[in-house]
Amino acid sequence: MGYFFIETMTEKDIKPVQAIERLSFDVHWSDEMYRRELRQPQVNRYLVARFSPTFPAPRGSPPLPTVRRKPFAVPLLDRLLGGGAPEPSPSSPSPAPDPMVGYAGIAVAVDEGHITTVAVHPSYRRRGIGELLLNGLIDLAVEMHAAMLTLEVRVSNLAAQNLYLKYGFVPTAQRPRYYDNGEDALIMWTEPLQSPAYQTRLGSLREQLFSRLRAQAEDQTTEPASLTTPVSP
Ligand SMILES: CC(C)(COP(=O)(O)OP(=O)(O)OC[C@H]1O[C@@H](n2cnc3c(N)ncnc32)[C@H](O)[C@@H]1OP(=O)(O)O)[C@@H](O)C(=O)NCCC(=O)NCCS
Repeated sequence: MGYFFIETMTEKDIKPVQAIERLSFDVHWSDEMYRRELRQPQVNRYLVARFSPTFPAPRGSPPLPTVRRKPFAVPLLDRLLGGGAPEPSPSSPSPAPDPMVGYAGIAVAVDEGHITTVAVHPSYRRRGIGELLLNGLIDLAVEMHAAMLTLEVRVSNLAAQNLYLKYGFVPTAQRPRYYDNGEDALIMWTEPLQSPAYQTRLGSLREQLFSRLRAQAEDQTTEPASLTTPVSP
């Protein structure tokens, strides 16, 4: 079918991110809110997931003003694709971006990483993209020295809760009427990300995810879904 990969969100991605956001959430961020977040990479990091029908050329991450420039998405991509993808030639023009299928973000304060958002285009759900994005956020959290991860999720949002439970998030409390419609939020936390138990769990989940994504990439029988088909979340 093709390849899913993640890379750093840039300001050029705001419009397609908002298109997925409109299909996924009732509350929408303005362009300015996204720009503000993206301009503070010391505390906020955002990823996008893309779909490529062919083996995607690694693009690395765009330069960040105050943080390490290591292209964090590349190790994940390398493992997904079996490693050893060639570097693009510096003189070659930037290829057009592949279509976006999801996005996610994290904010780190002191040693706590807060997952601010995760969404996958409705036509591309249940293919491991939510997991791929969450794995990218976990890598970013570690890179930004977060010891643990936390998030809020609607009590009714069982799909997202299952994703987080799978990755070792545990419900610790409920925040009453946290959302605009009066719905409560479930607060979830991981155990310490660097603990041997968590690392073991993560390693095993990653192996499973990469096998699944590789099998999907090689599957000739499934057509990629249309990104323009409006589908209710
Ligand atoms: C939550 C969301 C990001 C999951 O993305 P996804 O790409 O469909 O998820 P994946 O395919 O990676 O699934 C990973 C795991 O999540 C859980 N999950 C995902 N969708 C699920 C569903 N509809 N029902 C039950 N569990 C689900 C499962 O545990 C799944 O693991 P499995 O494949 O072994 O069963 C997606 O449903 C979405 O964008 N929802 C709308 C936005 C949203 O609610 N974001 C979270 C805000 S806190």
